[in-house]
Parts: sequence; C-alpha cells; structure tokens
Amino acid sequence: MPDSFKILHSSKDGPYRTGILNLFHGQVKTPCFMPVGTLATVKAVSPDELKEAGVGFILSNAYHLYLRPGHELIRDLGGLHSFMNWDRPILTDSGGFQVYSLASMRKITEDGVVFQSHLDGSYHKFTPEKVIAIQEALGSDVMMCLDWCTGYPVERQEVEKAVEITTLWAKRSIEARERRELRLFGIIQGGMHKDLRRRSANELLCLDFDGYAIGGLSVGESQDIMLEMIEEVVPIVPRSYPLYLMGVGTPEDIVEAVHRGVDMFDCVLPTRNARNGMAFTRFGNLNIKNAAFERDSSPLDPECSCYTCSRFSRAYLRHLYKSRELLVYRLLTIHNIFYYMELMNSIRQSIEKDTFMDFKKRFYEQRANKK
Ligand code: GUN
Ligand code: ZN
Repeated sequence: MPDSFKILHSSKDGPYRTGILNLFHGQVKTPCFMPVGTLATVKAVSPDELKEAGVGFILSNAYHLYLRPGHELIRDLGGLHSFMNWDRPILTDSGGFQVYSLASMRKITEDGVVFQSHLDGSYHKFTPEKVIAIQEALGSDVMMCLDWCTGYPVERQEVEKAVEITTLWAKRSIEARERRELRLFGIIQGGMHKDLRRRSANELLCLDFDGYAIGGLSVGESQDIMLEMIEEVVPIVPRSYPLYLMGVGTPEDIVEAVHRGVDMFDCVLPTRNARNGMAFTRFGNLNIKNAAFERDSSPLDPECSCYTCSRFSRAYLRHLYKSRELLVYRLLTIHNIFYYMELMNSIRQSIEKDTFMDFKKRFYEQRANKK
C-alpha cells in the first residue's frame, strides 16, 4: 500500500511533484537525496554533522553489514539506528548490486545467489528471504528486495533472465516480510531494453510494494539512454507510489530525473568525490588540488553557507589536501553533502512555486559558469 507516501504538490507541466514519505523513524520530504553510509557510517562525518548539513535520510547496505559486523550483532545491540546513533530514516540496499559488483565469485539460481565475500573469500548464500531477514534485523525504514542487476553492455538474454528472476524474488520477498512497520520497495530491472523495462515494471506492480525503484542504471550507459529508460517506466508506475532511482547521480542527472518524475536518489558521488579532492558547487565542480587555488582566499563556493565555506579558504583546503591531512576529507564531505541537500531544497521549493523550469534553466547557466 502506498499510504506511506503523500503527494504535496504535483506540477501541471509534467510528472514531477513534491511529497512526504512517512517512515518509522520520521518524515522525509521528496524529491530527496540519501547520502551513502554503506558501513553504518557516512564516511568522514558524524551523525551530528550530517544533521547540520540538512540530511534527513541515509542509505546503508545489507550485504556489507551482514558480512561485517553481522546483522545479528547489530540486532542484538538494538538495531542499526541505535548502533550508529542515527535516529532519522535509513534505507538499506539489499546487496543485489554488491553481490554483482564486489563478490569475487557468484552463482545465480532461481533459489538465490551464492557468492564469495570480498573481505575473506568465505562462501555465502543470499535468498530473497535471507535478505529480508537481514534488513528486518537491522530495522531499516525502507528495505529493498534482492534483485539481479545487469551491467552494460550485456546480452539481451541475460537481461530477460534477470527480469524473470527479479520478479520471482520480489514475490518471495513480499511473503517473507514480517515487520509491517518497515517499508519494502521492489526494484525494476530490464537493462537498456524498453520492452523489458515495461515488463519488469508491470510484473512488480502486481505485487503489493510500498514503493518502486529503478535499478540497473548508471552502469556505463549515456545519460540519454538512462533518461529514456526512466521515461519508459514513469507512465507505468501509478503516481501514488514513491519512485526511487538507485545509485544516481550527478547534480545534472538528478535535475533531469526529477523533471521526469523521480522522487528519491542515492549516490556515492558527493562523499567519494570529496575524498578525491573534488567539490561540487553552484558554479561547476572544482578540484582542490589545482595549482590555481594555491593563493585563493575565497571559499569553495562563494554562495554556500555550509560549515566549511563559512570558515575555510580554497588555499587552506588545498594545503590540507596536499598534506593528506585528515580534516580535509571531513570538510569537503560536509560541503558536498550540503551542496546536494541545498540542491534538493531548491528543487522542492521551485516545484512548490511552479517555477521548476526557471530553476532548471538557472541551474545549467550557473553550473557552466565557473567562479
Ligand atoms: N544500486 C544501484 N543500482 C542498483 C540495482 O540495480 N540494484 C540494487 N539492489 N542496488 C542498486
Ligand atoms: Zn560549502
């Protein structure tokens, strides 16, 4: 039942809208972005710093937490929220994606997937039921089904098989869930084939999910192809369900996907790029290692009011980065997360004021105009 999602304002000019997700640990305004906290921490920043940056919803991962420290340990210590001292909503990915991207060996059958841990090579089996049990032990506000995420490029036959298995596993996931206060989303696959995307969406829509995700995108295809796949799915999913685009993306990807009707996003970009010395700003991306910043006393983004920009110069951040000082990872992460949160704020406000198209035009003009 989609009763955990309330639409606040729908645009008259397209499928985009604002809404509110009602989750066990609180409410989240959409369109929203979830920073990635794979190992029960958003790398380099504390829960208090996340809140100060405006974060209300984070993503974690069943595959990683199952392998280390173990979901039973986390359950016994009071659940993931208590374990990491984060009291706002958490969505956990099922591990469907990690099994395919990280595990050193994997064998998929109708029953599930056998894989070797990327940590120590030990053998494990994930079934849809097991992955629900892991996420219920963690106490995730939103659980994701075990799915089969295909790469790109890939044989059509493999994508067909992935769609079929993903539907089969989705049915079993629905039957396996016990904690009704936790939401469960299905994941639409189908690679870059429009008909398979439609098939996957239609099959999953016969099941009683709380929301739907689009998986298997941002795996090496162009933005045009990704947007075409989104456009294929959006008209099929009733507008009463929240729609989540997994693992996406750049600020430009997010703006385009919101325009086409997506409500939720997650991505490692703001956090991972921060640790590689890259800052997102209104005026484009900048690399703090750049010699041009050696004597630059301005903040990363002259219009940003984050903790980092209100205190530190580009020259200082460059110095820290060149010296591999740990503080720089925290400062750049705080700024990038703040930038993404501000982006989502601006998106929501413009939708509510019916000025999203003006916002979008200005967004592109500014991003192309380095300061
Ligand atoms: N994260 C990004 N893409 C995917 C996907 O297709 N499936 C899952 N489970 N997680 C993802
Ligand atoms: Zn900033």
